[in-house]
Amino acid sequence: MASILVEICAGTHCVMMGSMNIIDAVHSLEEVRAQGPDACEIQVRAIPCMGLCREQSNGPFVRVDGELIGQAESESVMAAIMKRCGGGREQP
Ligand code: FES
Repeated sequence: MASILVEICAGTHCVMMGSMNIIDAVHSLEEVRAQGPDACEIQVRAIPCMGLCREQSNGPFVRVDGELIGQAESESVMAAIMKRCGGGREQP
């Protein structure tokens, strides 16, 4: 079973930009994925400020298995997770 680490910045800037909504969305996905045939383990971590907000203003910042996503939204984070979970398989 694939294991995916999702790190969501919970620093002040990113929270103001909506990172808590992303945490809620990923937790919802986690429950759905755990029941599906392609189940993969999703580890969600709220992490402290990564320092990126000092240089860039395009938060909130999320890392999915190390891939940094700026201006993260639930949809873009979900897409990155599904790609790794096998949910983004291309049709033949
Ligand atoms: S608060 Fe998220 S990078 Fe600083």
